[in-house]
Amino acid sequence: MRKPFIGGNWKMNTDSKAAVQLAKDVAQKCAGLLDKVDVSVCPPFVYLASVKNAIGSAKLGLGAQNVYFEAKGAFTGEISCSMLKDLGCKDVIIGHSERRHVIGESNELINKKLIAAIDAGLLPIFCVGELIEERKAGKTDSVVKEQIQKGLAGITVEKAKAITIAYEPVWAIGTGLTATPQQAQDVHLMIRQLIADMYNKEFAAQIRIQYGGSANAGNAAVLMSQPDVDGLLVGGASLKADDFAAMIKAAAEAKK
Ligand code: 13P
Repeated sequence: MRKPFIGGNWKMNTDSKAAVQLAKDVAQKCAGLLDKVDVSVCPPFVYLASVKNAIGSAKLGLGAQNVYFEAKGAFTGEISCSMLKDLGCKDVIIGHSERRHVIGESNELINKKLIAAIDAGLLPIFCVGELIEERKAGKTDSVVKEQIQKGLAGITVEKAKAITIAYEPVWAIGTGLTATPQQAQDVHLMIRQLIADMYNKEFAAQIRIQYGGSANAGNAAVLMSQPDVDGLLVGGASLKADDFAAMIKAAAEAKK
């Protein structure tokens, strides 16, 4: 049985006061659920330390939204894996569609980041997903396959155990257009079969695959009821502690 994993990707939102308050509210509202569901919040870099402090001893995980693959040196504006570890991060989102499509990150860069993060002891949330024109052209599976094959290139099964995959169809992110539960399930199953082909069946049965894209308190239960949906990577709804807590509860219920 895969333990559900809900991530809150705060993106470029909150300020120092709001970030601390949100972290405290989330920690308090989901306190009773953290044995059943893994939960991480991923604030902007600049609030990681204060959010870690606000979480205190709660079992809530802390994640970053990005990382650079080099260990240190002349990389102005970048943040290393060891810096994230130093601040108490457990997870790191890598390959988010906004970084692929707004900032221009390639599969090759994402692969380097995944390798560096795993080697540093971070747990990557590795994001993949197709554009609307790719879906309309029937290319969803081939696009997602290529992202996964290139992203995981050279990563052994032992190392890949650190990874959670997040399927986030780009057309569903921040649009209010959620994938139907069946659309999500179809791609999640395809990903699991691909992982079985690339690695082995046992690992494919273990790896967690989150869905992301306009997931909210209203649709979390039905998305989580799909057999291959193991969690959610939540953007907008993770900024409201009540909604986020409701989604964590829905995940716990769905996988009882
Ligand atoms: P929304 O939940 O705001 O659509 O964002 C999803 C996402 O990109 C999470 O990483």
